[in-house]
Amino acid sequence: MTTDSDPRHFLDIDDVSRDELATILERASEYKRAQRADEDHAVLEDRTLGMIFQKPSTRTRVSFETGMTQLGGHAVFLGEDDIQLGRGEPLKDTSRTLSRYVDAVMARVFKHENIDVLAEYSTVPVVNGLTDDAHPCQTLADLLTIREHEDGFEDVSAAWIGDGNNVAQSFALGCALTDIDLTVATPEGYEIDDAVIERARMLSGEPTVTTDPIEAVTDADIIYTDVWISMGQEDERDVRMANFEGFQVCSELLEHAPEASVMHCLPAHRGEEIADDVIEGERSIVFDQAENRLHAQKALLSWLLE
Ligand code: CP
Ligand code: NVA
Repeated sequence: MTTDSDPRHFLDIDDVSRDELATILERASEYKRAQRADEDHAVLEDRTLGMIFQKPSTRTRVSFETGMTQLGGHAVFLGEDDIQLGRGEPLKDTSRTLSRYVDAVMARVFKHENIDVLAEYSTVPVVNGLTDDAHPCQTLADLLTIREHEDGFEDVSAAWIGDGNNVAQSFALGCALTDIDLTVATPEGYEIDDAVIERARMLSGEPTVTTDPIEAVTDADIIYTDVWISMGQEDERDVRMANFEGFQVCSELLEHAPEASVMHCLPAHRGEEIADDVIEGERSIVFDQAENRLHAQKALLSWLLE
């Protein structure tokens, strides 16, 4: 067990500096190369990651668990209903207990304040595996993917189309940290939070905001979208489906950005936020993004625990 009483947490992407982000991305590329070359990189031998999930997951769960195995460590899946949290044990007690066993905690929770509580009471690093407000591990993988496809971040322009949700918010901060020129197109009422825009501005990278998807994508290098109905918003389905009309990433929209690659954090709802022929098309890099979750998170964990 790590005994540091003031551990480093990763609750959103701007918890790391530009230099630290560059270090993590460089290490992610190195682990990607090492894994493909079948080279030993077991730098977390005997370390254990606890993984709390209050929402479902495919990529986050499997990439963290596989990543810990590849680094020589171990991960424990803690579904909410498999632990006492689901029966009402307070998060702060869960956090203090887990801190006595594991070397780091990754958590996927609803309210962002809940990850703050976990971090406040934890004596080991806490990693945000998605909250209603943020998805910084996704952003790490997104930035690694953009760096690979665009050969760095210089002069890269990106367009976010759709909901100003958790993935969009962390991505906006990630763009600010890497000087990617971002335009965000959302329907009225679904914008990125003002507080996030302000944080991006403090990092010198406030995104351009519009309600016009064509304006946003014109000549972009990257077009990124996510579901219109996030986990926990299922009751809003009918209203959201009506309000997001015209925001689908489809082949007509792509005509305004002839060079753009298309990104999606997955899972995707084909026929809603993205057309089937676009996600299956040549310009889609969604599975590179999904793969890079593994490499980016391995780098993050080894950086947090070294
Ligand atoms: N992108 C992402 O976080 O996917 P999962 O919900 O499958 O983990
Ligand atoms: N915005 C989506 C992302 C899933 C990875 C959600 O919160 O459900």
